[in-house]
Amino acid sequence: MFLNFFYNPFAMKSSELKKKYIEFFKKKGHKEIINAPLVPENDPTVLFTTAGMHPLVPFLLGEKHPAGKRLVNVQKCIRTGDIDEVGDEVHLTFFEMLGNWSLGDYFKEGAIKMSYEFLTEVLGLDKNRIGVSCFLGDEDAERDNTSANAWEKLGIPKERIVFLGKEDNWWGPAGNTGPCGPDTEIFYYAGKNIPKKFNPRDKKWVEIWNDVFMEYNKIKGGGVELLEQKNVDTGMGIERTVAVLNGFSDVYEIDVLKSLMEKVSKIARGEDVRSKRIIVDHLRAAAFILNEGIAPSNLERGYVLRRLIRRAIRHGRLLGIQDRFCKEIVKEVFIVYKWNYFFREQFILDEVGKEEEKFASTLEQGLKITEKIFSKKTPIKKEKYLKLMQLPNHVEILKDLWNKKQAGKDYSIKEAKISKKEIDKAIITGKEGFLLYQSYGFPAEMIIELAMEKNLLFHRGGFRMELEKHQELSRTAMAGRFKSGLVDHSEKTTRLHTATHLLLQALRNILGDKNIIQKGSNITADRLRFDFNFPRKLTDDEIKKIEGEVNEQIIKGLEVNWKEVKLIDAKKIGITGVFEHKYGDRVKAYFIGDYSKELCSGPHVTNTNELRKFKIIKEESSSAGVRRIKAVLE
Ligand code: SER
Repeated sequence: MFLNFFYNPFAMKSSELKKKYIEFFKKKGHKEIINAPLVPENDPTVLFTTAGMHPLVPFLLGEKHPAGKRLVNVQKCIRTGDIDEVGDEVHLTFFEMLGNWSLGDYFKEGAIKMSYEFLTEVLGLDKNRIGVSCFLGDEDAERDNTSANAWEKLGIPKERIVFLGKEDNWWGPAGNTGPCGPDTEIFYYAGKNIPKKFNPRDKKWVEIWNDVFMEYNKIKGGGVELLEQKNVDTGMGIERTVAVLNGFSDVYEIDVLKSLMEKVSKIARGEDVRSKRIIVDHLRAAAFILNEGIAPSNLERGYVLRRLIRRAIRHGRLLGIQDRFCKEIVKEVFIVYKWNYFFREQFILDEVGKEEEKFASTLEQGLKITEKIFSKKTPIKKEKYLKLMQLPNHVEILKDLWNKKQAGKDYSIKEAKISKKEIDKAIITGKEGFLLYQSYGFPAEMIIELAMEKNLLFHRGGFRMELEKHQELSRTAMAGRFKSGLVDHSEKTTRLHTATHLLLQALRNILGDKNIIQKGSNITADRLRFDFNFPRKLTDDEIKKIEGEVNEQIIKGLEVNWKEVKLIDAKKIGITGVFEHKYGDRVKAYFIGDYSKELCSGPHVTNTNELRKFKIIKEESSSAGVRRIKAVLE
């Protein structure tokens, strides 16, 4: 993607880019906010933070941010939607994003001016290599001439400005609903002979920055409405930008990733660069996920983590690595990022070590069984297989094929000219896949990858059915949750969120322990799950009383309000919450009548009577000294 043959005198390391970016925007009146945890604090509907704007959703929707209207930060992100692409030049599951925001302050012209100044004056990029795209316009929003004019005013010629539709120049919402809007994307030409015209389809024009103008809110059932305020949300991927700035041919050549690649090369016998990249990417992501206190498991975040580690281990085998190696790579991650992040080193090393031990012991045997299963199949001819895989919608075609029980009727895929018979003979059945999963711990993605290496197909739909039959609990983990994303701040999750505040206060009152705090929270549209510190099982009587007290507050119809308070006062007036990692000297607290005061960024209902009726459905142990309650609302 990036071409190597020009030398950029402004070459820099990722830490320098971060520093320059933050300093520049601070000078322009922005406050630096914290690099939020990868597991969102107040958004129970997301698996991982996938962009700098995620933690800011309530503020983009109009709530006041304690640090003001201009914000800037470096945000660590996890995106697993493109995990299959990892191993190429640019895709990563973990990355760091630079971002600046205007919450109802400057808008298009201001944002564009600052972006241009930073790129050309601070980074010293060649103006002659810049091209931009703007939104073409459709039924939701008009053609973005304002942005195009702003670019022209700065000296970008007309032939370097293109207008594109929603698929290219619209960002968000991160989930089904929420803030979104047209964007203007900035590209940099990384080739030799600079063309006059900007062509966004030419890979030598590399996207480096995205300025999103979030003035819309996507609402349920489609369509957009205007937000209370016009926001700017920008995002610049550090790894890609540093690669472009240095004229590197791939992101693994930048300082941090290069050290990790070298470490892998030292241990590996084989040379396969794709496998090396997968190990580097996956174990870096794993180290950061583990750093949030998450351990490998078969559910949700823990399962994402497990899959990353296990895939890395298999690629280690492909590179001829016989010994355990994950800890070595993870230690290098600690070294590379020691100035930027604090790591729980012991926990991470222990967990990675345990997972490698567990999987290494079944991998060999599992691969043998795989070979046996595969030997009974007939691979699809190479050209046809490649053709099938190249169809832009091949995943959809296959999914569709597998999901329909009657798909047998028409298995022929026109474009690739594959017959039903050929597909039938090449398919690894759901049952076969399930055996590999259940007995040898092979994640579905690994089975797909193994099948692809042999021109075979995996019946993922059938696999899912097997899984559901055998393990009710796995359903959530498999039903597409691997792709993290904001679900939405729906009415249901908002009500449950307010219920967790009432629950915490009721726990403190009924159990008579003022030191009870939230240890974790997860909300789906159907239920809340709340973890808290307490040394023993609750009695039936206590559970009844807690339920009763929450319902009393609901019946009272208490008003829910929020206020900004000084951080130092918050504790004094008995506001509950986790106080570490709070930004600025002012914090936001929610008050439910006189009953509950809690640090939180929302959103919440306006009156407790909207909750109708609260019911605890389960109380159990979560981990040592931590109990877990699951509850629902009527
Ligand atoms: N949210 C936008 C992105 O992720 C801009 O930050 O690209």
